[in-house]
Amino acid sequence: MALKFDFNNLFEFSVQGHGVTQEEVKEILPQAALAAQHLKKIIADPAARVKLSLEWVKLPEQKEADIAAIEKIARLIKGKFENVLFLGIGGSYLGLKAAQDALCPPYYNEFKPLRKKSPRVYFEGNNLDPDTLGVLLKNLKPKKTFVVVISKSGETTETKAALVLVEAWLRKGVGAKYGRQILAITDPESGSLRKRVQAEQAKDPLAFRSLPLLKGVGGRFSEFNMGLVHLALTGVDIRKMFQGARDMFERCSNEEILKNPAYLYAALHYILYLKREKSLAILMPFSQTLKSTADWYVQLLAESLGKKYHRQIKVDNRGVESWVNSENDLFNLGRTPIAAAGTNDLHSIQQNNVEGQNNKVVTFIRVEKFKTDLKIPGKGDLLSGKSLTHLMRLAQEATEWALVSQNRPNCAIIIPEVSAYNWGALLFFFQLATAFEGELWNVNAFDQPGVEGYKNYMYYKLGKPGIGAVVTEEIKNRPLVKKPEYIL
Ligand code: PA5
Repeated sequence: MALKFDFNNLFEFSVQGHGVTQEEVKEILPQAALAAQHLKKIIADPAARVKLSLEWVKLPEQKEADIAAIEKIARLIKGKFENVLFLGIGGSYLGLKAAQDALCPPYYNEFKPLRKKSPRVYFEGNNLDPDTLGVLLKNLKPKKTFVVVISKSGETTETKAALVLVEAWLRKGVGAKYGRQILAITDPESGSLRKRVQAEQAKDPLAFRSLPLLKGVGGRFSEFNMGLVHLALTGVDIRKMFQGARDMFERCSNEEILKNPAYLYAALHYILYLKREKSLAILMPFSQTLKSTADWYVQLLAESLGKKYHRQIKVDNRGVESWVNSENDLFNLGRTPIAAAGTNDLHSIQQNNVEGQNNKVVTFIRVEKFKTDLKIPGKGDLLSGKSLTHLMRLAQEATEWALVSQNRPNCAIIIPEVSAYNWGALLFFFQLATAFEGELWNVNAFDQPGVEGYKNYMYYKLGKPGIGAVVTEEIKNRPLVKKPEYIL
């Protein structure tokens, strides 16, 4: 059984006054058909895919030799090191963490038999919080720790700062050849990390070994590229994951929107935002191991569709497209994503989902079968003899009911089990839905200019050379106002 999308509860017949109507679906079909055709045209054109950052659709087609090469690197690391420390943030972190939690056993680091000779895995460089990295650097043994630094640009402050600290720690613990314990995953040509790789390898070919990121793949769409070393190290079946993604891509290549689960998912959410003001998107897997996949989705939706400007498509005389953010055409929209998890968040956000403002759409991920099942022992109690799987599925159904009873739109993605195949399909489902929704709203789903604001301010305060006059003026003219009487 493949992934299914159950959209009953998004419709008016389930959630009166708050659902999509059949007429609204009919109305959107011509616009959706144009959006699907446009996406199809770009995807079919290799140059456009790279230029417009849609090359990620090709990631699941990577050659066997490339997968084998990554597995070889992973075997070398596994053979020598007890710990692997991954440094990265945003798209260079969230996919790896999601895979770690979904596809590796829970408590993976704690129990050796669960790891099956794979190293323990730690993630850092995803925050400037000194407490977490501080603990690792005090407690891990440098000689037993391999470091994988992931940064497409090589410029990201969090990752850069962590790398410098980790390098100093490795140098102290291992000596001058510490660079042999570092692998860099970065842009094939540009950026300071790539330059560093080139400089280090010129001195010692075994130091700062590196894997390139594909051109035309943005961070949040790149788990099937930058996550592969992590997957190989932890023993995840990359081929099955790719198969799941390829099968989903084929299903979602259907231009008939009503038969295309990802495009229909996007279109129904689009209608609910446009016509019913459902501006919050809550992703609530009923699985603890998929919680970080919901975190991954938060970045995907927020960075892809929360935009200031509409996209303007320019076509040159050779028919080649380029996209610019049209400053005359303000958008300032985008559904706000929220990650939650059943059943623990039923004792938290669920109160607001059911009785707070009716401005949300909840998407459940329902897992049909868990890897383990536990039957509650004893007799005479309501719960006696019931399995946790049964209770989990019932809780998910009950949550749907509680929302429907208050006319709160919701839908469910149903997966048979959390496996490499289904997870690959799930990620591709969301990526395709997001790309398609970008077409419907006419925004560039593959850039993230809004992330630059805080970076620029930090660079300005840190005195980074080369900050443009426009940015400098903007910061000088708009200082933060901190009146003491407004601070208690
Ligand atoms: O989606 C994106 O491209 C961003 O969120 C990046 O992944 C994030 O900013 C990290 O960038 P980098 O890989 O260049 O360090």
